[in-house]
Amino acid sequence: MNLIMKMLAVPATVLALWAVGAQAATNDEIAKRLEPVGQVCVQGKECKGMEVAASAGGGGGAKTPDEVIAKHCNACHGTGLLGAPKIGDAAAWGERAKKEGGVDGLLAKAISGLNSMPPKGTCADCADAELKGAIQKMSGLK
Ligand code: HEC
Repeated sequence: MNLIMKMLAVPATVLALWAVGAQAATNDEIAKRLEPVGQVCVQGKECKGMEVAASAGGGGGAKTPDEVIAKHCNACHGTGLLGAPKIGDAAAWGERAKKEGGVDGLLAKAISGLNSMPPKGTCADCADAELKGAIQKMSGLK
């Protein structure tokens, strides 16, 4: 065998071995890799892994008003973005509370959403009490 042929033969052998190895790995491994992606999580049904995410978000206990506000409400209510009542603007909050029948009325609107105000203020895993705490803190209402 001349030198050129040897040089060609070596990579060809390596390539052939690699191809065989890759083929053997494929079916099982691809099936495994696709598994988590293929598991669709339907709302209202129990889902593997979801309970971990939910409890991690809660940090094992109730979220404090400050945590909820910093993470979810401040983006809009900090500056009055999109016409949101500003944090600490007692007059604006007071007027809304009067219209909705108090803090519980505001809470109901915060849960359902109102125009540009997204449902639950984007805190999908917030309990009602946690949202209420955030509203009380932002508005100064009791
Ligand atoms: C994407 C921006 C945005 C975020 C995030 C947001 N809000 Fe709002 N919020 C608004 C806007 C805008 C309004 C005023 C809606 C209107 O009157 O049309 C509003 C109004 C409200 C009101 C008054 C509802 C009423 O009946 O007048 C409450 C209560 C409220 N937000 C609570 C919250 C809480 C609690 C959070 C965080 C968990 C939050 N919001 C996060 C934009 C936001």
